Amino acid sequence: MPGLLLLLSLATLLEDPLLPEPWRGKALSLARSDLRNSDSISGKESFRRDLGELLFYATGFSENPSNSCASCHDAERAFQDQRSHPRGLQGIARDTPSLWGVSGQRWWGWDGRWDSLWAQALEPIESVDEMGGDRLMLLRWIDEDDQRRDLFEKGFGPLPSLAGLPEKARSGSDWHPDYLLVSKSRRKEIDLAFSKAGRSIAAFEATLEAPRSSFDDYIDALATSDLHKAELYPAEARRGLILFLDKGRCILCHGGPLLSDGEFHDTGLLTSGSSGKDSGRYGGILELKSNPFNLEGQFSTASEMEGADRTRRLKRDPSVWGAFRTPSLRGIRHTAPYFHDGSQKDLKSVIRFYTRRDGARKKSQAAGHHGENLMEELNFTPGEEYLLERFLETL
Ligand code: HEC
Ligand code: HEC
Repeated sequence: MPGLLLLLSLATLLEDPLLPEPWRGKALSLARSDLRNSDSISGKESFRRDLGELLFYATGFSENPSNSCASCHDAERAFQDQRSHPRGLQGIARDTPSLWGVSGQRWWGWDGRWDSLWAQALEPIESVDEMGGDRLMLLRWIDEDDQRRDLFEKGFGPLPSLAGLPEKARSGSDWHPDYLLVSKSRRKEIDLAFSKAGRSIAAFEATLEAPRSSFDDYIDALATSDLHKAELYPAEARRGLILFLDKGRCILCHGGPLLSDGEFHDTGLLTSGSSGKDSGRYGGILELKSNPFNLEGQFSTASEMEGADRTRRLKRDPSVWGAFRTPSLRGIRHTAPYFHDGSQKDLKSVIRFYTRRDGARKKSQAAGHHGENLMEELNFTPGEEYLLERFLETL
């Protein structure tokens, strides 16, 4: 009889729309951080953001006239492209991430090869795989239009003179020979202005947030103990949430407002780990260290320089070979395909990857002394897999 009572009370706990502890506290830790209200941005920041928005959608400084940031990060598709391997001028073997909530990360790129959002924005502009433009083409594009030049100067101060400079700074993935003849001090002025253009794009990206979802309403209901409102959240999704917090241990890595710990893990994908070709975080650290636009570099502000400790402390560490940054799960139902290599076509297959290790490396192909221990199978029933999927869809 006591056993039956226990079962009954467990069942009532599971049915409580306001979630019993400890789940409730854990669920509340997933509350979204306050939306940065774009109307509250004023002064210089608003000029920067407006210029950044123009830059984000522009094709005028790209070698390929149809390529802008927005051609891969499409506002209609959660600022990604639904393709596993987006084609720029050549091909890239990584999935395009959504930009919703992107300013809340600590490192950017699947491999974290940028330590600021503004430095990230500079690479696609010049990468032959992406836009194939360059810093001079970009600054000229700003300079040749009164509105754009005005936004730049109100946001950052004077634009350097471009008179007498060559047409282009780059030729393919190399410097243009004529650009190398320009004096070092002028090139530094150009680099500084280029970094400011990156800052304006970052100011625009800071306004990109996943739209509010039924999960956000549910979290509000938990925070205010509003039973009536909590009952509006589907019971299946609520039970999926419990699996996410508890048996699935998803929250270990997918915690906080973005449902991402912002750190790097090897989840056991066939294409990652020590045998994989994509070195992930390992290569990311090397690239970050050698990037003149990293936070340790001369284009950082004084406060960024102080905060550059995290970058300074990074070491070339073989144990992070094949690790990738935990993605945010906000708006996840809009951003298929999944994983850095775009290898999972829908949420069902992602869940099976975790619960049954479908499409994952086996223990015998473990990363050995490199990398973390591979994750264990979760032994979910098909019913539990279904509930977890219902939950993820409400994000
Ligand atoms: C050809 C497609 C393409 C274009 C064009 C492109 N991107 Fe991306 N973007 C990607 C891919 C793919 C990644 C993942 C790269 C990686 O992690 O190695 C990415 C990563 C990012 C990230 C990191 C997101 C995160 O969660 O860390 C940001 C921010 C970003 N892009 C912004 C931009 C901006 C700004 C532009 C224009 C200046 C741009 N992208 C142009 C495909 C593109
Ligand atoms: C050890 C940390 C860790 C745990 C635990 C974990 N994840 Fe992940 N998750 C990651 C990382 C890292 C990635 C990206 C892997 C990659 O692309 O190489 C990821 C990717 C994902 C994606 C794809 C996101 C995208 O944009 O491509 C989903 C969905 C996801 N996880 C859901 C879950 C669920 C559900 C659970 C629990 C069953 C879970 N994760 C447990 C770290 C983790």
